[in-house]
Amino acid sequence: MAIVERVFSGVQPTGNLHLGNYLGAIVNFVKLQETHNCIYCVVDLHAITQGIDVWGGPAQLARNTREVTAAFIASGIDPKKHIVFNQSQVTGHTELTWIFNCVARVGWLNRMTQFKEKAGKDRENASVGLYDYPVLMAADILLYRATHVPVGEDQKQHLELSRDIAQKFNNDFGDSIRRHGFNEGLFFPQPEPLITGPATRVMSLRDGTKKMSKSDPSDYSRINLTDDADTIAQKIRKAKTDPEPLPSEEKGLEARPEADNLVGIFAALSARSKADVLGEFGGGQFSSFKNSLVELCVTKLSPVASEMKRLVADPGYVDGVLVDGADRARAIADETMELTRDIVGFIRKH
Ligand code: TYM
Repeated sequence: MAIVERVFSGVQPTGNLHLGNYLGAIVNFVKLQETHNCIYCVVDLHAITQGIDVWGGPAQLARNTREVTAAFIASGIDPKKHIVFNQSQVTGHTELTWIFNCVARVGWLNRMTQFKEKAGKDRENASVGLYDYPVLMAADILLYRATHVPVGEDQKQHLELSRDIAQKFNNDFGDSIRRHGFNEGLFFPQPEPLITGPATRVMSLRDGTKKMSKSDPSDYSRINLTDDADTIAQKIRKAKTDPEPLPSEEKGLEARPEADNLVGIFAALSARSKADVLGEFGGGQFSSFKNSLVELCVTKLSPVASEMKRLVADPGYVDGVLVDGADRARAIADETMELTRDIVGFIRKH
């Protein structure tokens, strides 16, 4: 079984899908369909790692899972040509996590900045699942022996951990891996992060030094994929800026995080470079730039929002996509798990 190029990525169904998720991840998911076999996963097991008050309980989890699936399809992901499913339907994710728990080191997890941020001051009270989150993420990717992982900048450290886990597994079980026909001793590939485009880290509209996030208490900090045209316009008009006109060159965006963020959003939405956008708007006031940004945002996001609305109103169809995707994902996952069990030395029926 040779390693073939395969793309895997995931999005948590935790509500408030926003422009950062869209530009940092989903737009790239759509593009990669042209060149790769892709698996896109709604990571419901990750969603429950924070308190039930955060993920909202069973009914909310199901709604959010359907909403992320709808966002994938509405953005242009083709669930027939590629695979779209929710994580909990394929049990290999949790089984491989256990094996990886015994490969990963506590010291590695202690370095994860996302855990520190999410657990906050009361670390003793964080769930064990939140601590183990990055190991489950490594299992997600490696269960499909995926080689490329499109993500936003904030996931870079988790991807590095996935690479470390793959490498340590290959080292620890090298002889067994070779005995099972992998002559190079490489069973799991080293997954490569794909962090591309001008919006790999979209910032809050209220504070250009903070990441745009689902959990920010201010709805004005983000543009949600379900926002209507008026809401988008209001949020962009109220977005924080500085008193200077826009610079004509990219260098002039340094130390101006809010300006840099809005120009980056414009560039990403229009598939242009920041330099190109500044060539058009440099020297002008924010007010006219913001008007053009509102128009662009509404033009690009409205069709996605209305298609999402249509799909969410048809849960039978959406659930069908997830079940079909899970069946196809499971076929790949089962093959990896059978080999993994053999490599580790677990006895099973042949
Ligand atoms: P989640 O749901 O938090 O984020 C989904 C994707 O959106 C990206 N993202 C952003 N990109 C740019 N600017 C932002 N402000 C911004 N906020 C979020 C994230 O980087 C991510 O790509 N842990 C993953 C989910 C996951 C996963 C995986 C990803 C679970 N297993 C396996 C890849 C492979 C996450 O952050 O989800």
